[in-house]
Amino acid sequence: MANTNGPSLFRLGIIITLAGVISLGIMFFWFSPSKNCPLPVFIPDRNSEINFAKSNNSVTENAEEKPIVLLWVWPENDRFEFSDCKKFCDIDNCHLTDDRALYNDADDVIVFHKAINWDLSNLPPSPRPPFQRWIWLHLESPTNTKRIPGLENLFNLTLSYRQDADIPVRMRLMTRKKPNEDFVIPKKDKLVCWIVSNNDPSTGVDTRNVFYREFRKYIQVTLFGKAYAKFLDYNDYYPTMASCKFYLAFENSIHKDYITEKINGPLAVGTVPVVLGPPRRNYENFVPAESFIHVNDFPDAKSLAEYLLQLDKDEDAYHKYFNWRKHLTPSPPLIFQTQEFNLAICTACDHVARHREYKEAHDLYEWYFN
Ligand SMILES: *[C@@H]1O[C@H](CO)[C@@H](O)[C@H](O)[C@H]1NC(C)=O
Ligand SMILES: *[C@@H]1O[C@H](CO)[C@@H](O)[C@H](O)[C@H]1NC(C)=O
Repeated sequence: MANTNGPSLFRLGIIITLAGVISLGIMFFWFSPSKNCPLPVFIPDRNSEINFAKSNNSVTENAEEKPIVLLWVWPENDRFEFSDCKKFCDIDNCHLTDDRALYNDADDVIVFHKAINWDLSNLPPSPRPPFQRWIWLHLESPTNTKRIPGLENLFNLTLSYRQDADIPVRMRLMTRKKPNEDFVIPKKDKLVCWIVSNNDPSTGVDTRNVFYREFRKYIQVTLFGKAYAKFLDYNDYYPTMASCKFYLAFENSIHKDYITEKINGPLAVGTVPVVLGPPRRNYENFVPAESFIHVNDFPDAKSLAEYLLQLDKDEDAYHKYFNWRKHLTPSPPLIFQTQEFNLAICTACDHVARHREYKEAHDLYEWYFN
């Protein structure tokens, strides 16, 4: 971690570290022993020294072979231990650092879009070392993206939720050969729940709000979250979600591949997500068709409500929504919002260690907005 000055920053550091330890503890407790990492499976290549270093736990021998990946700023100041990439995802093939003193040696530099000043004054220095690649990190949808001028032809690799990014970031369900027969649907005492923290109209939430206002006329929805009075403590977040039969996994804005943690959470804890976002087909690229309900499966909010009420009375039909669990394992949910970027950063590390090719990310915004 970077040096921090002053007692308040120090204290903040301790709190964040503690929070990290607790949350990781929880994740470990929940998901042990089946170690579930959402990241792409590593395919060993016998000829590569980097991979040799990885397959041998004593990494010191080949440590200098690992590409140095410099995180220029911590996204939203959500810090974590880089060693978590190894601990949770078995990713250890790059040298992650936030030490800007290593800039001239860094093979890759991750730059967080939202932190870039409008006048570009806080970008890494130019000229950059000729071998160095800059990675554009951005996880928001186009609706929530500032078009900061001057970035169009500056980066080499894109790191985004989009599948056509150079480095796509996504929680994934992992296949399993030996069927899991142990899953038990958690006890339910609520029918439909929704936890909403963001209700800012400028973020594109209008579509989901219009739908919701109609939907709630026909079915009881239990609301939680910052946007409403009932604030949920993070300790209660997933247990609460698990106690609902259905969860409204409504994205704030609708874009291809913009399918976020909002669906991963309910899938992980054993609740049926009712999704609003890109078309069903797009969801089915990532999660099985029979694991979720799409609002577009119904002509209107009323028929969706009627279908859920009918499922509430039909245990067998409801249980079918969990059959996928036999052969797929969900990713653990994010316990804290502060873990939002861990996956992106670890994924970037793994990617650049295996892909050293020259690349330019031209016309960034044309790609992103069109
Ligand atoms: C790892 O590599 C080192 C140095 O090449 C070697 O001495 C050691 O025995 C190896 N360990 C394993 C577990 O293969
Ligand atoms: C990275 O992209 C920049 C801007 O397009 C380009 O000038 C540079 O040559 C690229 N470098 C590498 C190593 O890919």
